[in-house]
Amino acid sequence: MNIMDFKNKVVIITGGSSGIGAETAIQFAKLSAKVVIVGRNEEKLKKVAEQCEEAQGIKSLIVKADLTNDSEVKNIMEETVKHFGQIDVLVNNAGIVAHTEIQNGVDDFDRVFSTNLRSVYLLTSLAVPHLIKTKGNIVNISSVAGQKLFPNLTVYCMSKAALDVFTKGLAKELAPSGVRANGVSPGPVKTDILVHAGLDEAAIMKNWEKSSLLGKICVSRDIADMVLYLASDKGNSITGSINVIDNGRLLA
Ligand SMILES: NC(=O)c1ccc[n+]([C@@H]2O[C@H](COP(=O)([O-])OP(=O)(O)OC[C@H]3O[C@@H](n4cnc5c(N)ncnc54)[C@H](OP(=O)(O)O)[C@@H]3O)[C@@H](O)[C@H]2O)c1
Repeated sequence: MNIMDFKNKVVIITGGSSGIGAETAIQFAKLSAKVVIVGRNEEKLKKVAEQCEEAQGIKSLIVKADLTNDSEVKNIMEETVKHFGQIDVLVNNAGIVAHTEIQNGVDDFDRVFSTNLRSVYLLTSLAVPHLIKTKGNIVNISSVAGQKLFPNLTVYCMSKAALDVFTKGLAKELAPSGVRANGVSPGPVKTDILVHAGLDEAAIMKNWEKSSLLGKICVSRDIADMVLYLASDKGNSITGSINVIDNGRLLA
């Protein structure tokens, strides 16, 4: 058996409708996983599900959910267990950026924290009993912004710093149960995240490219490959680890 084989493994990916999450879902499907893709945009989710099915002929499950709504988060778990009977890997990937500053008040803080952190805590708490049964694992998609402050991104940076602490706490708490938890912290990745945040994508991307040691930015496949490695048996000695993949952006 190929050690990077997810045959009969059930993988939940939040934010599976776009960018890193979509690519990660497709790469898991290529390695025979049964994938559960979560997001709000049904049309985009369907397109990703089609690509997943094309890979190995395995039908994925779409769960439409707004992660800021607790009952919709609970439904993700219920639907997954009803449909596939188990959970082996949880990829907490969905996230948003807000360009804001302190004098703008608390609305952006609430929006970012409810998406990037609270929903992750709730979904993970519901997944853990199932992950303990399968000796599965969790991968949280963080950001280099969890380790370095960027202008007007303090709230986003705070959410990712807290996510990193959560990942390490999970690793400690769940190790005795045989469940691993790891983080992946990308630098800039070419996705629609800036467009979704209403920012000037072209200008920012150019600046990001210039400001990395390797003079380039990641593509979603780079991140997906790291997620798959950590989630697979190849990563069986890795837990509590925050894995930076940033073309040297943090050092630049
Ligand atoms: N791109 C980068 O440069 C970069 C760098 C470092 C870290 N990251 C992290 O990587 C992760 C993925 O980002 P991306 O670049 O792939 O961004 P993206 O293309 O904007 O995708 C974000 C995903 O999150 C989902 N999402 C957002 N809010 C949601 C909500 N309330 N309920 C359900 N789903 C929600 C979106 O789904 P719907 O639109 O269908 O709701 C979408 O699938 C994020 O956690 C981000 O912080 C990105």
